[in-house]
Amino acid sequence: MDMDHIKIPDVYHGYALSHFCVPKHYEEDLENIMIPWGLIQDRTERLARDIFQDVKDEPLTALCVLKGGYRFYTDLLEKLTALNRSQGSVSVPLHVDFIRLKSYENEDSTGEIKVIGGDSLTNLKGCNVLVVEDIIDTGRTMTKLLDILNQHQPKSVKVASLLVKRRPDSTGYKPDYCGFEIPDRFVVGYALDYNEYFRDLNHICVINDNGKKKYAVP
Ligand code: IMP
Repeated sequence: MDMDHIKIPDVYHGYALSHFCVPKHYEEDLENIMIPWGLIQDRTERLARDIFQDVKDEPLTALCVLKGGYRFYTDLLEKLTALNRSQGSVSVPLHVDFIRLKSYENEDSTGEIKVIGGDSLTNLKGCNVLVVEDIIDTGRTMTKLLDILNQHQPKSVKVASLLVKRRPDSTGYKPDYCGFEIPDRFVVGYALDYNEYFRDLNHICVINDNGKKKYAVP
């Protein structure tokens, strides 16, 4: 991958749960902490700076992919608006928009995405769109979403994804901005879910077999 990002190696044990604060109700369900919340914040600050420098005074429509992207989205926008306040000589007018997709059950991709919420995409015509996503896994979801967005004739579309997974069956899709490249493990927390659980966890963690069993769809 030629993106500029932090690469977490395949052999990586992360951090012990006992070294950080984790909700009691998830203590038995996690293998380790892959990326602590504080590191996510620091990396997001730099991504915001990179985006700010690339936009060059043009208005930007930040499109949140719900639900998994919501925490990255709010933190990224908070950091972009902080730059807007502090830079003085330049600022980026920001519009916010939301989209909801449904694509996964358990760990397996169904190969389908459905837009099941959000504003009308016709609003995006002529806009510079920044899609904000939690994770690119195979890349299929993002490729399909970009097809859908491009049908509505935006001026430009860029993608910021907090995580990109190294997968042997990746489509090869790479986002414009990436926080961390991670090993092929199922991760939860910081709004990433397993069947709607773990969104209420601050750190990005590796789920264990107990967690997968406990929260499996019956
Ligand atoms: P892709 O189409 O294979 O790239 O899958 C992208 C979507 O799968 C993401 O938007 C997530 O909703 C979901 N996903 C993939 N891997 C994970 C993971 O490790 N944890 C949580 N969700 C995941």
